[in-house]
Amino acid sequence: MTVLLQINSVKKDFSGLDVLLGINLTIEDGERHAIIGPNGAGKSTLFNVITGRHRVSDGQILFKDRDITNWSPHRVSRIGLARSFQVTNIFPNMTVHENIRNVIVSKKKMRFNIFRALGSIEEVNSETRGLLETIGLATHSDTPAGELAYGHQRALEIGLALAMEPELILLDEPTAGMTTEETRDAVKLIKRVTAGKTLVIIEHDMNVVFSISDRISVLYYGKILATGAAEEIRENQEVKKAYLGSKK
Ligand SMILES: Nc1ncnc2c1ncn2[C@@H]1O[C@H](COP(=O)(O)OP(=O)(O)OP(=O)(O)O)[C@@H](O)[C@H]1O
Ligand SMILES: [Mg+2]
Repeated sequence: MTVLLQINSVKKDFSGLDVLLGINLTIEDGERHAIIGPNGAGKSTLFNVITGRHRVSDGQILFKDRDITNWSPHRVSRIGLARSFQVTNIFPNMTVHENIRNVIVSKKKMRFNIFRALGSIEEVNSETRGLLETIGLATHSDTPAGELAYGHQRALEIGLALAMEPELILLDEPTAGMTTEETRDAVKLIKRVTAGKTLVIIEHDMNVVFSISDRISVLYYGKILATGAAEEIRENQEVKKAYLGSKK
């Protein structure tokens, strides 16, 4: 197995509040990896330091063997690492189509070089339509994003990350606040759109976790308690004690 993302002894404190206490985590190329853990454990903070939204206090982050520690979010996304946010990131007054198109245009600008023209408006529009098809929002193309049903807004959120054509995609609680039916659709969508990519997903819903992931890591108050396949995690005594038995 090839290692895609390597996190070595990463620490993060916010003015003296120790949130990550030395995280070691390896994400293999092509795997679907879930991160679970109670509220306030540091899961979103881990995404924030990986993607350059926050600086690490200590430690090192390698993506494809390159040291990306404390890179800017812009640089991180350019090398093929995209994320979604726990709190939605869409522009509510723009249409669904416009939301996706913006990202595609900025991706093309980022990759623009003298050998490759930016492409025509028609090219951008057809790529946008293709992506809307993929995330199941083609029929809502002209709807202002803020008027979409909640489940569809979250699908759009995933689409924004996908529009960057990342190799590694980080999803922060993509099913939070969804109905059972919306969750079922979201799981299908996530499986479909992450085929052939590498996924790290923060998720509270254990049904989602067990149905999506190849491996699971348990983050418990700033430390990785265990990493393994679903069965290993289910049977891990420490995990049972700390997390699975308790309320989330
Ligand atoms: N920018 C920040 N400044 C100060 N403290 C922060 C900041 N971001 C997060 N924290 C603190 O770090 C801790 C971990 O927060 P984080 O959002 O990473 O948890 P989480 O595991 O994602 O929780 P949840 O499941 O509720 O989303 C919390 O105590 C939070 O208050
Ligand atoms: Mg969080």
